[in-house]
Amino acid sequence: MKYIALFLCFLTFSAALPAQDRILINGERLNVSLRDLAEFGKTPEGGTNRVAYSDDDLRAREFTIRLMREAKLDVSIDLAGNIIGRRAGSDASLKPIMIGSHIDSVPMGGRFDGQVGSMGAIEVARTLAEKGITLRHPLEVIIFQNEEGGTVGSTALAAGILPERLDLVTNSKKTIREGIKAIGGDPDKLTRPLRQKGDLAGYLELHIEQGGRLDQQKINIGVVEGIVGLSWWEVTITGFANHAGTTPMDQRQDALLAAAKYVEAVNRAARSMTGRQVATVGKIQAFPGATNVVPGKVVTSLDVRDLDPAKIAQVLDKIRESVKQIEAETGTKFEFKQTSASKPALTDAGFKSAIDASAKDLGLTTFLLPSGAGHDAQEIADLCPIGMIFVPSRDGISHSPREFSRPEDITNGANVLLRTLLRLDQ
Ligand code: GLV
Ligand code: MN
Ligand code: MN
Repeated sequence: MKYIALFLCFLTFSAALPAQDRILINGERLNVSLRDLAEFGKTPEGGTNRVAYSDDDLRAREFTIRLMREAKLDVSIDLAGNIIGRRAGSDASLKPIMIGSHIDSVPMGGRFDGQVGSMGAIEVARTLAEKGITLRHPLEVIIFQNEEGGTVGSTALAAGILPERLDLVTNSKKTIREGIKAIGGDPDKLTRPLRQKGDLAGYLELHIEQGGRLDQQKINIGVVEGIVGLSWWEVTITGFANHAGTTPMDQRQDALLAAAKYVEAVNRAARSMTGRQVATVGKIQAFPGATNVVPGKVVTSLDVRDLDPAKIAQVLDKIRESVKQIEAETGTKFEFKQTSASKPALTDAGFKSAIDASAKDLGLTTFLLPSGAGHDAQEIADLCPIGMIFVPSRDGISHSPREFSRPEDITNGANVLLRTLLRLDQ
């Protein structure tokens, strides 16, 4: 029985593809699309500053919609402001397969994160249109909005967004609510998920690795086994603002001193355990922010990640323990407000074999690896099976203007995306 099942599995995912098996995407066109997209929010260092809901994000979305129309996709904006391009399938009884990524960037980020998967998905659709191939499943190409601010668009799709989260201020200075209105969504209709379990046949995302394994080991394609969970917090430390010249050193309630101890404690908490858990303080602002005032308030952040939710909880516990001590030492108060949380997500076994077989058909080497970066795919994992394809990042650098992936690696990744889609469609 076991052998029959294995054989069927082999047939499903490894059988040679029919006539369309020779089709390849247009790599040159894909890399030109990426280069053109990089103009929106281009920085002098050659990176991208295109935070969600900014003017550059809005202009990049217009550009992307034009490309989707050129790919003969039927484009609409959903209630969350995600851009969706549809292509009909031949079997009306089948649910859509979704492919895509995001085009927003972190502040002063790179030109590949999210953008490779977005332009790659559009190029795949354009290739299907050009070659006159109709899939059995409908195809949806999706450009998720605000991935970098905590996978907002994909969370709206899979889980819905609580009204209080809509009031958080984003890097564009707009709240999420204002941002969603600016991109054509309706923030008042997002408490319930936009899609239900079973609405989609699957979701596939092409992305850069953002780590150095593929680059170091000279491997062409990463087959992602899972995506870490993450827990994001806004941390406010309240002390007492007072004169820097007249307040004796032993009578201060210095919020910035407490913050310094907190940054150290966060680092220590993650390092004190075995495993790959990480914890980061990436943002800090002192108030009132003057040379001659002891800071009375600090607003800072926390990002904790691991593939195991129990590990995340353990790191958070250790941080809370240290914070109690810091409060006592400095006469300050810490307040933690959660701004985003994603569960770790495992990719689907069938999708992993389909990606691996598709890469091997193209003569490409593969490697199974986890993702330490967050992705929209992990939200979509609540709705349907997911798969992720990674291409190498030079020196493993990401969220930086120095992020770089070679054009040939990007072309390979999009070809694997196309072949995997064709395989899964069968
Ligand atoms: C998203 O890119 C994240 O991992 O923070
Ligand atoms: Mn990113
Ligand atoms: Mn990304």
